[in-house]
Amino acid sequence: MLNESQSDPDERPISQWTRSQAAAIRRSDETIAPVVYPPENDVDPDLHIWDTWFLRNRDGSIAEIDGYRVIFSLTASSELLPGKRHDVATIRYFYSRDGREWTCGGPVFEDGAEQRTASSRTQSGDGGALGSRQWAGSALYDADGQLYVYYTAAGTRDETELTYTQRIAVGSGGTVETDENGLSISGPFDHEVLLRPDGTMYEQEDQSRGMIYTFRDPWFFEDPQTGETCLLFEANTPIPDPALEERFDAEPEHLEFNGSVGIAVSPSGDPTEWEIQSPILEGVGTNQELERPHVVVRDDQYYLFLSSHEHTFAAGLEGYDALYGFVADSLRGEYEPLNESGLVLTNPASAPFQTYSWLAYPHREELLVSSFFNYYDLRGLSLDDVAHLPPNEQQRRFGGTLAPTVRLALDGTESRVLGALEHGHLPLPAEDLPPLLSSHRRDEGGDGEY
Ligand code: FRU
Repeated sequence: MLNESQSDPDERPISQWTRSQAAAIRRSDETIAPVVYPPENDVDPDLHIWDTWFLRNRDGSIAEIDGYRVIFSLTASSELLPGKRHDVATIRYFYSRDGREWTCGGPVFEDGAEQRTASSRTQSGDGGALGSRQWAGSALYDADGQLYVYYTAAGTRDETELTYTQRIAVGSGGTVETDENGLSISGPFDHEVLLRPDGTMYEQEDQSRGMIYTFRDPWFFEDPQTGETCLLFEANTPIPDPALEERFDAEPEHLEFNGSVGIAVSPSGDPTEWEIQSPILEGVGTNQELERPHVVVRDDQYYLFLSSHEHTFAAGLEGYDALYGFVADSLRGEYEPLNESGLVLTNPASAPFQTYSWLAYPHREELLVSSFFNYYDLRGLSLDDVAHLPPNEQQRRFGGTLAPTVRLALDGTESRVLGALEHGHLPLPAEDLPPLLSSHRRDEGGDGEY
């Protein structure tokens, strides 16, 4: 809902993540995560697990239902080659009482990608999840106990060949129940498409001239200062003719890298009624994929975080698979990159692809950052090289489970890695964290060793 202090968002210039800002990206003690090793206990050895998000209340706090917290993850059978997992992604939920041990409750939607693949892709039922598979998302547990599971409908439901069409969708109407044995989420869910790219503010697939088209990863957010109900998402900015484009500080050949962070608002606060608006951040000329955007509000400042890849930076820029962050004094900016370049958290140079798809959430004075354990022990191989390894080697080098949670300090426009918790340890703010190693305390001059 809007209050009177909300000005017309379309009057503001769209914040840019510029090439000159991104040119300053460098690994440093403040931004490198500890090396990740395989966990002693995998969350679920039968599953590849990657992008993950909490079930949250409308105010963004993590929902606690009769002592359980819930996460949703993109998942696929661990028998599948890791590179194929995106083609059959299924959203499963996991619940925990202590934030350490997670129990898989099963697929959230009865008619998700896997079940249809197992029977027949062409057999469509009514009311099933949209898309040929479901990609990342967010989940709202509303005050009335109503569940809204936002997701990316990737491909179309009945397609016989995989396509990369993406629409932003929701499954609503499911219920959450608990008993002494655990927590269960059950349908039926009503599925509807909430947003499609309009072709003017947000690129449609057939306008895309570059790599990896995006319109995905809805993130529910209620602005604590204005009360506005928003959905953020990953998108691309249309560039009809690069030669004529004057809005961006980049050469025409860089403009196929046109990632953006989109926004839609719900004027009534209804979680299923959205109006699309112009993006809150663009990385045109800089980077193609501004993935899984989300916001943390701290000290009246808006911290916008997103994940991106080494290979999606435009020519002439060197970035990493990393969490990038920006700060502004209101949701629509103007955003300034954290740590000057935007780099907040990355993998060590010796293990550059060990984790991906980060999600930051507040924990008292700190920020906690979850992610998934991606490819490790690559010994200099790139992600492209991995696809050419024998299948058992591709499997051996893929983590496919929750990564250690990283602890960050946030101070104005700067952030700093403090250390890490165990794999998949996702504490609530009420829980104390272990004392930090002295090397991470600023007053004692941290040296970045773990
Ligand atoms: C990030 C991501 C998301 C997408 C998902 C698909 O890891 O690219 O943007 O929803 O993976 O598997």
